[in-house]
Amino acid sequence: MKNEMLNDLEKVLFDEAQIAERIAKVATEIDRDYAGKKPIMIAVLKGSVMFYTDLMKKMNIMAEMDFMAISSYGNETKSSGEVKMIKDLDRCIEGRHIVIVEDIVDTGYTLNYLKATLSTRNPASIKVCSLLNKKERREVNVEPDYVCFEVGNEFVVGYGLDYAQFYRNLPVIGVLKKEVYSL
Ligand code: IMP
Repeated sequence: MKNEMLNDLEKVLFDEAQIAERIAKVATEIDRDYAGKKPIMIAVLKGSVMFYTDLMKKMNIMAEMDFMAISSYGNETKSSGEVKMIKDLDRCIEGRHIVIVEDIVDTGYTLNYLKATLSTRNPASIKVCSLLNKKERREVNVEPDYVCFEVGNEFVVGYGLDYAQFYRNLPVIGVLKKEVYSL
């Protein structure tokens, strides 16, 4: 199964069952916190796609879907701190409860930019749900409200997360072998 990609992993951190279990728990928390509030769930493309669709399917409350795309690492494994919007939301978020759904919060620059940009549009509230949290790398004081897994200072791929646009379709999350990106 997906041997070509799995061979590039140093280790698997979270398998499909572990991911599904955590997402079901986080979906329950969101259901509880947003009962009757009809939030707009905002996927940040492309990394959050797998997480977003699985999370949405596990949620029972009424919620809208919308999508944003922002520039990320390109082919590197370090954040530049520069963030650019490539695709904006389709919907007006004024007066609405919004939940930003991210793949990973690393330095925090991306999330900081997203929260600052979206808060100027006067939503009723902004919360953040991230699949992964790389807390020890934080450079900006910003924290996700819901997190599935904490990870250390390692470059991870799979389940939406990429290196040079590949590995997104791995169903597990793992640490990429250093030789893969230091070539
Ligand atoms: P930040 O702005 O440094 O918090 O970085 C956020 C973005 O960088 C994420 O949305 C990812 O696209 C990317 N990123 C950060 N760490 C990793 C990683 O370990 N693997 C893959 N992408 C990552």
